[in-house]
Amino acid sequence: MKILVTGGLGFIGSHTVVELQHKGYEVVIIDNLSNSTIEVLDGIAKITGIRPEFHQIDLRDKPAVIQFFKSQPDLQGVIHFAASKAVGESLQKPLLYYENNINTLVYILQQMQAHQISNFIFSSSCTVYGEPDKLPITEEETVKPALSPYGNTKQIGEEIIRDTTHAYPEMKAIALRYFNPIGAHPSAHIGELPNGVPQNLIPFVTQTAIGIREELSVFGDDYPTEDGTAIRDYIHVVDLAQSHVVAMERLLQNKNKSNYEIFNIGTGRGSSVMEIIKAFEKVNKVKLNYKIVDRRPGDVTAVWADTSLAASELGWQSKLTMEDALRDAWKWQQKLDEAEGNKV
Ligand code: WQD
Repeated sequence: MKILVTGGLGFIGSHTVVELQHKGYEVVIIDNLSNSTIEVLDGIAKITGIRPEFHQIDLRDKPAVIQFFKSQPDLQGVIHFAASKAVGESLQKPLLYYENNINTLVYILQQMQAHQISNFIFSSSCTVYGEPDKLPITEEETVKPALSPYGNTKQIGEEIIRDTTHAYPEMKAIALRYFNPIGAHPSAHIGELPNGVPQNLIPFVTQTAIGIREELSVFGDDYPTEDGTAIRDYIHVVDLAQSHVVAMERLLQNKNKSNYEIFNIGTGRGSSVMEIIKAFEKVNKVKLNYKIVDRRPGDVTAVWADTSLAASELGWQSKLTMEDALRDAWKWQQKLDEAEGNKV
């Protein structure tokens, strides 16, 4: 069984390639290396012993996408990660986000349709819920008007897939709405490679702990939560990767109940920023420099998943803890620094 993973050298994509290979799937990766490096291929091969087939293609290049699918007669499914994903950047460059996240989805779906490839997994996000009315969040929660062009591309993406699977009943799709992916592979051969100054909490935490960043800014401690800091559902990236394999197998084995299904992928537990900081210090026996600053515009108070649908329908639930993820994220950061010659 051969599966295409677009964005397969990215953070979640590379971990998913590893889990697919562990389950015996042949994987072909498309990545344009805009937010990754070719060395990730070596990391994957070090873990599984199998170096995946790789094509450096920018999915905005429609002729190249057409040519690729012509050259791949035995694809059974597609897991589509390739997209720009920085909320803040999307507010400055909306058209880049609409071109890169929407056009490419259309080109992939067109080629799947043309080549009768009927199994599609879409990387969506809890961002589509905005500030939820009720917690924990179920898949029935209303999708709110997006707070950023990035979030809007995920909402539009889900609608494109809804309309496509409605028009072409032979197409089967699952959208996975991720909560907050964190951590790294326990082997420390692959992990998160943030471009420039990290926007997300955990890479900023590990870069502060290792001395690359002076101090972590905690964006607000005046939220209506126990310790005043915002709450998120932090899921280990390996757990998240495994949910993609389970979802793809649901489609390959025709166990889906409709030809478009949506699942929340989280742990079902919320952690505040301060809880993350304290857990990181405890688990890794390091002190973290941080200061409280103003809230970041667009941040929501609290978000965590109701994961009962994924548990009952997919038979999937997270197994690793937030502490496991913080340990693996730190091990990865230390490995990155050794590789760059900055001995800790
Ligand atoms: C987590 C918490 C911040 C950095 C985003 C996207 C979402 C998904 C995951 C792609 C928040 C606080 C952060 C820092 C801080 N990405 N924080 N200091 O915003 O929940 O979700 O990334 O799909 O779509 O929206 O994640 O890691 O940026 O922030 O205090 O330096 O940490 O305020 O409460 P977020 P995050």
